[in-house]
Amino acid sequence: MNIDWKNLGFGYIKTDYRYVSEFKDGKWDEGKLTTDERVIINESACVLQYAQTCFEGLKAYRTESGKVVCFRPDLNAQRMIESCKRLEMPVFPEERFIDAVKQLVKKNIDYVPPYGSGAALYLRPYEFGSDPVLGVKPATEYQFRIFASPVGPYFKRGAKAITLRVPDFDRAAPLGTGHVKAGLNYAMSMHAIVDAHNQGYNENMYLDSATRTKVEETGGANIIFVTKDNKVVTPKSNTILPSITRRSLMYVAKHYLGLEAEEREIRIEEIGNFKECALCGTAAILSPVGKVVDHGKETLFPSGMDKPGEITQKLYDTLTGIQMGRIEAPEGWILEIA
Ligand code: PLP
Ligand code: COI
Repeated sequence: MNIDWKNLGFGYIKTDYRYVSEFKDGKWDEGKLTTDERVIINESACVLQYAQTCFEGLKAYRTESGKVVCFRPDLNAQRMIESCKRLEMPVFPEERFIDAVKQLVKKNIDYVPPYGSGAALYLRPYEFGSDPVLGVKPATEYQFRIFASPVGPYFKRGAKAITLRVPDFDRAAPLGTGHVKAGLNYAMSMHAIVDAHNQGYNENMYLDSATRTKVEETGGANIIFVTKDNKVVTPKSNTILPSITRRSLMYVAKHYLGLEAEEREIRIEEIGNFKECALCGTAAILSPVGKVVDHGKETLFPSGMDKPGEITQKLYDTLTGIQMGRIEAPEGWILEIA
């Protein structure tokens, strides 16, 4: 395999197999692995006209002892079920989701990056309405698919510090839909992302749409802060994605590092009181933030400028230690595949 694992970015690399199951006449077929990366659907497919689709993201890792594992895939399956329900799509059962993940990773095993490379095999489960509709109503046929792509970090560590800005755009996540990882929300964030990049920022720090006073999340990751007395705090909101990485980090903070960890509303005016800020997610892992700019008002996190802060580093080391098998995992967190 001719892949420079150490210098991989976060982009699509075609692998040998992908998993497909089709829903028709009210039931899912038995599913299969295929080498064909193309999806052929009708021009009026519900996904193309009305964005009836959602996705998940998880990774397969090679551990210190050479095993191949996934991190908490049951939570991805469960979150996808909630997303599908919200979009009136048939749910793909959790056991079948896990079985599909196992089959797919085994078939693409040579694409799981070596231990220590900092890369992983990203898995992208997704589902969409595939048959033609013209009126606004759910499709009757669907495809559930998973493809795999080896990836490096979403934000390169050690490169320039991550900077965020508070945009004039809303996250476009209706109240109560924070559990939906629906394509619609991401498409609505594209303009804000392009605009942030054009102005030299890595990402947007979105505020709650209702009052524009509370910190929510960024385009592809949740946010954590560390107080001056080493408490880990993260925004409480029902319009952000309930990140599996964040849930795991809060657990790690409490049970592995003996720190206080709290989910609460965080006002944008108070972020200057925190000593560390970082972005967390499957893709982002845990990436330190150096600066946040809110309409000319700068907040600096000096520890995030050239290296992660002390607590961010400890959280990162413990989480990745659990994922790569260097540190014993809580029961049920690691699915061994090979
Ligand atoms: N927030 C958004 C908008 C995301 O797209 C993601 C990534 O899936 C996350 C947060 C992090 O979630 P997780 O830790 O489950 O990957
Ligand atoms: C993930 O972390 O899996 C994500 O979905 C983030 C992103 C690439 C949108």
